[in-house]
Amino acid sequence: MKSVKIGEIVLKNPIALSPMAGISSLPFRIICNGMGACYSPTELVSARSIRYNGVEKSLRYMRISPEEEGITAIQLFGTDPDDFEAAIETIMETPVLREVSIIDINMGCPVPKVVKTGAGSALMEDPDRASSIVKTCRNTLDRLGKKIPVTVKTRTGFNAGDEGKPDFAKVLADAGCDMICVHGRTRVQMYHGESSVKAIALMREAVRDYPIPFFANGDICDAASARKVIEQTGCDGIMIGRAARGNPWIFEQVTAELAGSEMPKYPDEQARKEMLLRELEGRLKYLPEDVAVREFRSVMPYYIKGIPGSSRLKVSLVSASGFEEVKEILGLV
Ligand SMILES: Cc1cc2nc3c(=O)[nH]c(=O)nc-3n(C[C@H](O)[C@H](O)[C@H](O)COP(=O)(O)O)c2cc1C
Repeated sequence: MKSVKIGEIVLKNPIALSPMAGISSLPFRIICNGMGACYSPTELVSARSIRYNGVEKSLRYMRISPEEEGITAIQLFGTDPDDFEAAIETIMETPVLREVSIIDINMGCPVPKVVKTGAGSALMEDPDRASSIVKTCRNTLDRLGKKIPVTVKTRTGFNAGDEGKPDFAKVLADAGCDMICVHGRTRVQMYHGESSVKAIALMREAVRDYPIPFFANGDICDAASARKVIEQTGCDGIMIGRAARGNPWIFEQVTAELAGSEMPKYPDEQARKEMLLRELEGRLKYLPEDVAVREFRSVMPYYIKGIPGSSRLKVSLVSASGFEEVKEILGLV
């Protein structure tokens, strides 16, 4: 694939981790980038909460480490442009966070709690507001003298009948967005049904003449599906979400496929268990042990999926309460 730039940032390849609440922890993002992802945004963080509560409450979700991650991206959600302005000002006053490479805006979240406030995927139904949010983020960063790109992650529509929203893609590009990523499902679909490459392609086409990269997302689960989505949408890059859970090796495999180099071997059982522990160790650096292990319970099964005896292991792992216990269950003591 051709080299891709987001603003002034040159990506080492155009394959990113898709942001996932509860999954996109800092250690997982570091691991994915180490395996070949060009960058891995944080999960969605409320611009309003940052505005009114400061960064403290949200820090665990938006923690970044430019040194270990390389390119970093913080994803904000909200509906009031003033919240985004205040949130960006606060981020830019905060050590480490102010070094962030990209500010991403969530315009795709389908969760009722978010949508009913007019945020996430609801913004697709309010293009003026969406445009105003992008412009506000851009202006705020410009005013602070920050050459930080503003990107948007959205969907192919809100209602069941929507089959791509080319006008919405144009609204975002006209507002000054530096990259658009589209997940090929409507809000109504949540995560069900198929991601539509056709609907993504329609949005891609709408902004082909703009000098900004377009990323596609949805249902990419291996090297073959990555190639298919790229060919059928004409996108510049892709984001991989669920298939990366407990499987950061997917980035190694997809980058090898696209570079035409030899496909790396799939990790064996030992390697997968060790990777699980590595992510948990990373989480322990900034969370108390009981919280880190509890929050990791829903993630651990992804790492052991398919290995012999995984159902039994899963039952033990989801009730584990300490690091040593997890190690013991995995037979890695
Ligand atoms: C558990 C979970 C949490 C998610 N959280 C976010 C999020 O915080 N921000 C976002 O833009 N998308 C979020 N998504 C959507 C994914 O980034 C992605 O768009 C979607 O899963 C489709 O891609 P996939 O088929 O590769 O998983 C989430 C998805 C899942 C499954």
